[in-house]
Amino acid sequence: MATKLWEKNFTPTAEIEHFTVGRDRELDAYLAESDVMGSMAHITMLESIGLLTADELKVLLAELRHIQAEIRAGEFCIEEGVEDVHSEVELLLTRRLGDIGKKIHSGRSRNDQVLVDLKLWTRRQLREVVELVKALFDELQAQSEHYKNVLMPGYTHLQVAMPSSFGLWFGAYAESLTDDMLFLQAAYKMVNRNPLGSAAGYGSSFPLNRQMTTDLLGFDSMDYNVVYAQMGRGKMERNVGFAIASVAGTIAKLAFDACLFNSQNFAFVKLPNECTTGSSIMPHKKNPDVFELTRAKCNKLQALPQQVMLIMNNLPSGYFRDLQIIKEVFLPAFAELKDCLQMTAYIINKMQVNEHILDDPRYDLMFSVEEVNRLASNGMPFRDAYKKVGLDIEAERFRPVKEIHHTHEGSIGNLCTAEIAALMKHILEGFGFERVEVAERKLAFEE
Ligand code: ARG
Repeated sequence: MATKLWEKNFTPTAEIEHFTVGRDRELDAYLAESDVMGSMAHITMLESIGLLTADELKVLLAELRHIQAEIRAGEFCIEEGVEDVHSEVELLLTRRLGDIGKKIHSGRSRNDQVLVDLKLWTRRQLREVVELVKALFDELQAQSEHYKNVLMPGYTHLQVAMPSSFGLWFGAYAESLTDDMLFLQAAYKMVNRNPLGSAAGYGSSFPLNRQMTTDLLGFDSMDYNVVYAQMGRGKMERNVGFAIASVAGTIAKLAFDACLFNSQNFAFVKLPNECTTGSSIMPHKKNPDVFELTRAKCNKLQALPQQVMLIMNNLPSGYFRDLQIIKEVFLPAFAELKDCLQMTAYIINKMQVNEHILDDPRYDLMFSVEEVNRLASNGMPFRDAYKKVGLDIEAERFRPVKEIHHTHEGSIGNLCTAEIAALMKHILEGFGFERVEVAERKLAFEE
C-alpha cells in the first residue's frame, strides 16, 4: 500500500481511510491535468526563489510534462491506497525521479493545491460552456429570423392571449442566453484569480512569488488575502453554480415549451420521427423524450447552487474536509449541462414549424386587442373601444383581422436580432480566453 503524504508514525484504520477518502479517487481524476499545470507553475516559481536548482526544475518539468501526456492518453489513475490526485502526482514524481520529487511541495498545501486545481479546471469548463451557449444562441437567432413572419398564439395563464410569432419565440430564448452569459462572465472572472501560495490558508514563510504563478497560469490577478483565498472554496462553486443554474433555467423552460407545443393539442411544432422515441404498448406514439430529459436534467442543475450552499453552510473561515464533498455535486454538473446544450442546439433546427396554426378559429379571439387598438387609433377612447370589442365578442359578432403591424423594438415586426447579437458579441469579448490559452500553452511548452 502506498504511504500517505502526511504519514509519520501511525496510519488510520482501513475503515477511517475508506470513509475519509470517499469518492476522491474518482473525482480527483477530473482535476489531474489541472493539478499538473498548477505544479508546473509552482515549481517554476520555487526555482526562481532558490528552493530548487535549475537542473532539478528541468527534470521535474520534463516528468510533469510526461505525466500530462499520460493523463491525456487515459493512462493515468489514482492508485489504490493513494488518497487523492495531489498525492498521486507527487508519488509518481518520487517513484520516477527519487528525492527531488519530494521537493515540489515546499510552500504549498493540498488546500491551495485543490483550490488552484478547481479554478484551472472550472476556467476551462466555463469556456466550453460559453462556446456551447454561443452555438445554441446562433441556432436560435437563425430560427428566429427564418420564421419571423410565422404567427403563433401567445398565452397568459395558458389562455389564448395575443398574437406572437415563431420569430419572437426562438428569439426570446436567444436573448435569455445573453443574460445567462453575463452570469457566466461574472463567474469566470471570479474563477480566474490565483489562490496558489495561500498554502493551508495562512500563507508561508518562504518568499513565494505569487505574481509569478499568477502570470504563468494566465490568471487575471490573485486572490490576494490568503484567508480569503481559502474562503473562496465553496463560494466559487456556489457562484459558478448560479451561472450554471441560470443557463439551465433557460434551457428547461425552452424544453417545456417544446414539449407543450409538440403535443397534438397544440401542434405548433413537430419533431421529425428520427428525433422521437416510441412506446412499448402504444404503436402510434412519437414522444419528445429529448426535451423531457433536457428539462429534468436542467431542473436538477438548478439545484446546484443550493446543494453547494447546504454543504458549506455555516462553516467558519479556514479549511474543513466538508469542502471535499462539494466536488461530488460540482464536477459532474458541467458534463450534464454541456450535454443539454449540445442536444438542444442539435434538435432546435430540426423542429418542423406549423405555418398555419392561426387558420384554426379557436385562436380568433387573440386578435381582439388588435381591433381595440385599431379603433383607438381612429380616435375612439381606449376604454370605449375595449368595451365595444368585448361586447362584440360576447354577441359573437367579432371577426378577426389577422394582419398585424407591430413595429416597436422587440415586437413581432421588429425583432432586433442584430441588436441582440451585438449584445452577445460585446459580452463575449470581455472573457479574454486567448490570454489564458497563450499562458497555458507556454507553461506546458506547447509553443
Ligand atoms: N481531498 C481534499 C479536498 O478535496 C484535499 C485537501 C486535503 N486537505 C486536508 N487538509 N485534509 O478538500
